[in-house]
Amino acid sequence: MQQFQGELSSKSESLIAKENKYGAHNYHPLPVVLDRGEGVYVWDVDGKQYFDFLSAYSAVNQGHCHPKIVGAMVKQAQTLTLTSRAFHNDQLGVYEEYITKYFGFDKVLPMNTGAEAVETALKLCRKWAYEVKGIAENQAQIVVCENNFHGRTTTIISFSNDEGARKSFGPFTEGFIKIPYDDIAALEEVLSSSSNIAGFLVEPIQGEAGVYVPTEGYLAKAKALCEKHNVLFIADEVQTGIARTGRLLATCGNCSCTDGCENKPEVKADILILGKAISGGVYPVSAVLANDAIMNVIKPGQHGSTFGGNPVAAAVAIAALEVVKEEKLAENAERLGVILRDGLNKIAASNSLITLVRGKGLLNAIVIDCDEESDLAWNICLKFRDNGLLAKPTHGNKIRLAPPLVITEAQIVECLAIIEKSLNEFK
Ligand SMILES: Cc1ncc(COP(=O)(O)O)c(C=O)c1O
Repeated sequence: MQQFQGELSSKSESLIAKENKYGAHNYHPLPVVLDRGEGVYVWDVDGKQYFDFLSAYSAVNQGHCHPKIVGAMVKQAQTLTLTSRAFHNDQLGVYEEYITKYFGFDKVLPMNTGAEAVETALKLCRKWAYEVKGIAENQAQIVVCENNFHGRTTTIISFSNDEGARKSFGPFTEGFIKIPYDDIAALEEVLSSSSNIAGFLVEPIQGEAGVYVPTEGYLAKAKALCEKHNVLFIADEVQTGIARTGRLLATCGNCSCTDGCENKPEVKADILILGKAISGGVYPVSAVLANDAIMNVIKPGQHGSTFGGNPVAAAVAIAALEVVKEEKLAENAERLGVILRDGLNKIAASNSLITLVRGKGLLNAIVIDCDEESDLAWNICLKFRDNGLLAKPTHGNKIRLAPPLVITEAQIVECLAIIEKSLNEFK
């Protein structure tokens, strides 16, 4: 896709040219080349400072290069980096105890990326279906939602309806039924229609689709239906988890915990999938959490990863999760999310370019008054960039606004001014 790039220094241009020449073209980055990050800020190779309003797709919730998390990584990297799971290491059990108590589950299965964790959850769900629920071999179905985004492995794209992500990658994996998102009647119908349903995989907010927040009560009703039909409720909180939406987990609903969620989420998933901010963005760490009745179906040799649960990942994840509680990031996201959306709605009232503001906590989006094929949202993001704020369109006409959760109220006010100024430059 050829799009307007705006002005770039020769240094940036030459670094981008290298990526274009030597790297596969599987991404379409905004033209800015970064070489440093700290807290809510990143800097480009020419020293220009920006607010990061993407946070590496919500991986950098704790802010760039958080000293406590980087410190834990450096210390562990100088001691022991990788044993594989052929041997035990002194960090893994400590981390497993920490994360299971933190989220209130019996067990964790550690992996590296979000997509791997989703794959793990799907395998776990199928195995539970055959060995515990008693579904006949190869008959299990997992219900998913339209417009989902759970990663890009062959199985995961099998149930995507993003044609760009699917075209020419078939044949696909069977065993998935797609229903509309935020539609309890559709879920009820499908669960009643067959006794071969093993699980319901859902994003508590559809992030990649454009930050679709479901109707209040949808997740709780969906969980109740799953319980009624003996179907596992699988929450993909890779993007929404770890304080992003103003709660430790987006499935926490409106519980009023002030110190992160003390294991009493409004909707307790049977299988919880986490990634991204589990490490504060410094290292690939993901996790699948479940209770023994589900997790114990996995036996040695049936699933794994050389790097999953390595000592660096374990040390980093503990530090990153401690930061979430110590710095009260859920509370900050909740409070500043309200201020951000109020400010955006005020801008929208006098600027017809924004047709809708939506989100929860600090996972937000503005919908731009154009169709998905238009370059307008991209060009607005270039203007944001020129004015010192980095964001990226998702699905053409939506711009996600998701800064690190360590952002302050004064910085939010500064960012609203950048957003308003940039939009006014299009009038
Ligand atoms: C909800 C959700 N699940 C899974 C993934 C995949 O994670 P990863 O890119 O680490 O494989 C993402 C990534 O954006 C996501 O948003």
